[in-house]
Amino acid sequence: MSAIRAATVTFDHVSKRYPGTGAAHPGAVEDLTLEVPAGKICVLVGPSGCGKTTSLKMVNRLIEPTSGRILIDGADAAEREVTDLRRSIGYVIQQVGLFPHQTVGENVATVPRLLGWPEDRRRARVDELLGLVGLEPDLHRDRYPAALSGGERQRVGVARALAADPPLMLMDEPFGAVDPIVRERLQNEFLRLQDSLAKTILFVTHDIDEAIKMGDLIAVLEAGGRLAQFGTPDEILAHPASEFVGRFVGADRGLKRLALARVRDLVLLPAVTAQLGDDAARVRRLDASDSAGFVLLVDDEGRPIGWIGPRQLPDSGGLAAAMAAPMSPLLDRRTTLKDALAMLIDAEVQVGIVVDERGSVAGLVTADEITAYARREREAQTA
Ligand SMILES: Nc1ncnc2c1ncn2[C@@H]1O[C@H](COP(=O)(O)OP(=O)(O)OP(=O)(O)O)[C@@H](O)[C@H]1O
Ligand SMILES: [Mg+2]
Repeated sequence: MSAIRAATVTFDHVSKRYPGTGAAHPGAVEDLTLEVPAGKICVLVGPSGCGKTTSLKMVNRLIEPTSGRILIDGADAAEREVTDLRRSIGYVIQQVGLFPHQTVGENVATVPRLLGWPEDRRRARVDELLGLVGLEPDLHRDRYPAALSGGERQRVGVARALAADPPLMLMDEPFGAVDPIVRERLQNEFLRLQDSLAKTILFVTHDIDEAIKMGDLIAVLEAGGRLAQFGTPDEILAHPASEFVGRFVGADRGLKRLALARVRDLVLLPAVTAQLGDDAARVRRLDASDSAGFVLLVDDEGRPIGWIGPRQLPDSGGLAAAMAAPMSPLLDRRTTLKDALAMLIDAEVQVGIVVDERGSVAGLVTADEITAYARREREAQTA
């Protein structure tokens, strides 16, 4: 792939009024001013009809603004040749919009074909991109969109938008049409991809949770296409600028902020561990009062096997796997505190086991510690 390129996008007092909109229904986008720095994901979020799609389409000039300017790397989009502009911007449209009579490979190669790339270069790029979005090229290249699942179609849509390695991507509810599990997987894959691509991305959703997860920056729009707030997810959750934003982010914004923090942000509690075969009499003398007398049984690589409570611990002899009770949820340092808390609640336990990349025990996290973290954050914001 070529060197990383990303563009800065600036909305400079941009408005769009559709013909026929009167005083009662002023405009689709009203005086929008914001700047998206190169390499960042900016999420446009807001209720249906608040002007998200209109804002995106003004960037690639599928819609022309009524007033104001959109600058890409400082250059006015209105002065660019329109086909050239569009080819330099990846676009994933609402409801995917693959060409039904073209194969997956032909769909992905749309812009390279328009750019006149030779056949072998197109083909190599198609396979590279399918791999990148998690579709086996040999299996999917020659299929038609109708023969794909919703999630696969979304991936092809993303691959097609990435085809010419554009410095800017517009994504209109790219993961909107799939079930929550597939959606979460696509989100995670896309964030991982973006780690290396570092494109500038304008991403539209009406789902505040998706906005918080995907956005480096979030622009909250309200009815009439007005910008209600522009900031980082944490700023918006900590300090909603208006009653509208407060209602939109929800009464559970404290909980939502936990989705922005990860297990690595906490100081892990040390785990009292014992290995298979260890002498029970010696293990009895360990101080496991922090974990209610429970000792974590691990294998010779330090990987957890299960908890042994004071009542399961024999007076003497070696420790065996059969003595261990089922395990707490396993977390890693990247698990968000929101997910960690949800896992603890689901498992009806107080303590989660944190493992490192090799699966060895790194320490413990408790539900109390997570709620204490949330409380500290809340106090810090009101201070
Ligand atoms: N071609 C058009 N002519 C007149 N009004 C339009 C046109 N396209 C959109 N609108 C209106 O402009 C407003 C913004 O539409 P837009 O499609 O940008 O909303 P959106 O935020 O993307 O909504 P959704 O979440 O439902 O996709 C809406 O009130 C819509 O009815
Ligand atoms: Mg829309």
